[in-house]
Amino acid sequence: MVEHYFTREPGARHREKLITARLRGREYRFWTDSSVFSKDRVDRGTRLLIEGVSLREDAWVLDLGCGYGPIGIAVAALVPRGRVYLVDVNERAVSLARRNVELNGVGNAIVLQGEGYEPVAGMMFDAILTNPPIRAGRKVIVGLIAEARTHLRESGSFWLVARTRQGVLSLAAEMERIFGNAEECEKGGGFRVIRSQNLRPSIGLRET
Ligand SMILES: C[S@@+](CC[C@H](N)C(=O)[O-])C[C@H]1O[C@@H](n2cnc3c(N)ncnc32)[C@H](O)[C@@H]1O
Repeated sequence: MVEHYFTREPGARHREKLITARLRGREYRFWTDSSVFSKDRVDRGTRLLIEGVSLREDAWVLDLGCGYGPIGIAVAALVPRGRVYLVDVNERAVSLARRNVELNGVGNAIVLQGEGYEPVAGMMFDAILTNPPIRAGRKVIVGLIAEARTHLRESGSFWLVARTRQGVLSLAAEMERIFGNAEECEKGGGFRVIRSQNLRPSIGLRET
């Protein structure tokens, strides 16, 4: 069986490695391993998202598909009065992200394992950030975008980064369809960062 980076329990032999990255002006160290996404360096798309995102100091943020944790760990410094939840289906990624939260002395981040939004069921966020699992297929990603609305406070934002040649514009069109708006915030190195705002009342919270 071909093993992807989004396998729940990767069986590949461990090849742990410590990498460093400067993100938003700070130095970070990350443990990575085989069977996790972008194990040799922080991905360029991930970096574009981290450098471009704007958040309130007290925002509650979800890093959806956190891998070894670069997005959630770097943005935790931007929300000192808020909180970051990092979730991933891949148990190896989750265990690395937990170690990396500790290693970088992050006190306002929580790492949870599970599929999609299942680990944060019932929770609401000010922002959801994702470098989505393109290889999981478009249907999975569109599902994750659609479900974002039920986890975003009103005026909360959904941020997605993807490669132009891996269909970011068609994902932007889905975001436009689902949220009624989608804006390109950053572009570079073949990637684009797209943001949608939750302008309509959240599903399920409408008055009868
Ligand atoms: C492109 S990687 C991004 C990883 C990390 N955020 C980064 O930027 O380095 C996508 C991540 O989504 C995770 N993933 C795939 N399908 C998922 C799902 N259904 N629910 C949660 N996470 C998923 C994968 O395990 C992988 O770590």
